[in-house]
This record gives sequence, structure tokens and C-alpha cells, in this order.
Amino acid sequence: MSIQEAATSRTALDQPADRPRVAVVTGGSRGIGRETVTRLAADGFAVVVGYAGNRDLAEASVKEVTADGGRAVAVQADVADEQQVAALFDTAESEFGGVDVVVHAAGRLYLSPVADLDLAELDAVHRTNIRGSFVVAQQTARRIRSGGAMVTFSTSVVGLAFPGYGAYSASKSAIEALTMILARELRGRDVTVNAVAPGPTATDLFLEGKDEETIARLAAQPPLERLGTPADIAEVVAFLASPAGHWVNGQVIRANGGII
Ligand SMILES: NC(=O)c1ccc[n+]([C@@H]2O[C@H](COP(=O)([O-])OP(=O)(O)OC[C@H]3O[C@@H](n4cnc5c(N)ncnc54)[C@H](OP(=O)(O)O)[C@@H]3O)[C@@H](O)[C@H]2O)c1
Repeated sequence: MSIQEAATSRTALDQPADRPRVAVVTGGSRGIGRETVTRLAADGFAVVVGYAGNRDLAEASVKEVTADGGRAVAVQADVADEQQVAALFDTAESEFGGVDVVVHAAGRLYLSPVADLDLAELDAVHRTNIRGSFVVAQQTARRIRSGGAMVTFSTSVVGLAFPGYGAYSASKSAIEALTMILARELRGRDVTVNAVAPGPTATDLFLEGKDEETIARLAAQPPLERLGTPADIAEVVAFLASPAGHWVNGQVIRANGGII
């Protein structure tokens, strides 16, 4: 067997070319997740759109896909609830035949100096961001098909260490650790696991509760001198989910316009 044959044999064996690819996107009702739904559908994925409570927005996301001739279905699932997340994956299998890509975009932000932290809020953020990521990772590890990709979400704040982001950044550091370890645990499965770590990106999560001066200050920080858009981040996710991105594994991709 030649070097090239050896390098490609697993992919060639494990990925039937005619099988429709299926993506589960948590947080698919809004922001980065919603943009990712549309972007992956444009690449031909059938998409399961996960959401927490905004049914109308999740259904609108589905309609956008189906209006363009794609396939999508919305499923409510609190990512921290293992039965609801299992049902989300069940739907991917029953409606579309399996799971090839999991984009775990669901998350929440809570800002407070450590001294003033409301510990109930800390628990709530960690329940969604940490427990939720483990629950989604567990279903992914059990069910994702060979040739697949999981994309989790960290934040550039893990490196930037902005004051006030302690609870949130700690939860995202946990997600980075989980991502690295899961990539190694899936050895032999031909599945990649990477984290995308956006900088400030114009979504509800970033914009809510910030005054214009704060938003302008954060937008001016990267050398590209603007906020990220959900589309900027969805492009990175689409690359990691595509065959072109399959050699990237166990990495944190800081997609932030060069903010340091
Ligand atoms: N925007 C930024 O500047 C930025 C920067 C760095 C990292 N990130 C990360 O990028 C990811 C996407 O953020 P975003 O800005 O797009 O957020 P967003 O606009 O606030 O959207 C959050 C999404 O997560 C869902 N969600 C929240 N809690 C959930 C739960 N317990 N179970 C299931 N779904 C839940 C929401 O569903 P409903 O609509 O039903 O509530 C919504 O679809 C997050 O992990 C975030 O931490 C964002």
C-alpha cells in the first residue's frame, strides 16, 4: 500500500459518498448557532435545530432551511438534561438516519466580579455550560458516525482574562479541557473534536446589558476593528465540519479578528 493509500484508506472505507450528512446544532434558535444551521444546510446537511425555550425562533430557523430546499427539524432540549438531549439525538437518527456533525453552540453568559458573584447564577451558568457540554459530548461519543466532527464553543476571554468574566470563563475553560480529552478518547473512530473560541460577536449573548460605549470599546479591540458576526463564526464551524477541515483535531480555534 502506498503512503497516500494508507492515509486515505480509513476515510474511503468509512464514508459512503452517497449518504446524506446530518448535523445536530444546539443553540440553533439564535445567534451563532442559528447562523450555523443555515450555513451547514447550504453545505447539504440535514439539520436538527436544538433550542431551550424560543420555539418560534427555532421554527423560523427550520423554515429558512426548508424554504431553500434543505431538510431541518426543531427539537426543544435543555442541554443539561440527559433525557432531553438523548431525545434530540434520537430525532436525528429517526428523521435523518444518524449523526455526522455535532455543533454544541448552546451557552449562557453571566458577568460579575468574583467578590460579588451570585452563587445561584454561578451554578446555573455551570449547569448549562459545563454539565450541558458533558451531556452533549456523551451522546456524541456514543452515537456520532465515523468521519464525523464535533465542534464545541469556548471564548477568547479564556486567554484575554477580562475582569467580570470569571464564572463564564471558568466554564469555558472546562469546555476546552473536555474538548481536548474527548478528541483523544475518540481515537480510532475517525471523528474530530475541536473548540471554536470567538471574540466579541454581535449576538444577544454579547449585546444584552452592554451600553453603546462598552460595545464600541470592545469592537475597536481587534486589529480588524469590528465585532465578529455570527456568519464569521459559522464559516469556521463549516470548515471544521467539512472534509477540508478533517485534519484539524483537538484544537481551540480563536476566531476573533486578531484580538489579543
Ligand atoms: N457572542 C459572543 O460574543 C460569544 C463570544 C464567545 C463565545 N460565545 C459562545 O458561542 C456560543 C453561542 O453564543 P451566541 O452568542 O450565539 O448566544 P445567543 O445568541 O445568546 O444564543 C444562545 C443559544 O443557546 C440556547 N440555549 C441557552 N441555554 C440553553 C440550554 N440550557 N439548553 C439548550 N439551549 C440553550 C438558546 O436557546 P433559546 O433561544 O431557546 O433560549 C440560544 O439558541 C455560546 O456557547 C457562547 O458562550 C459567544
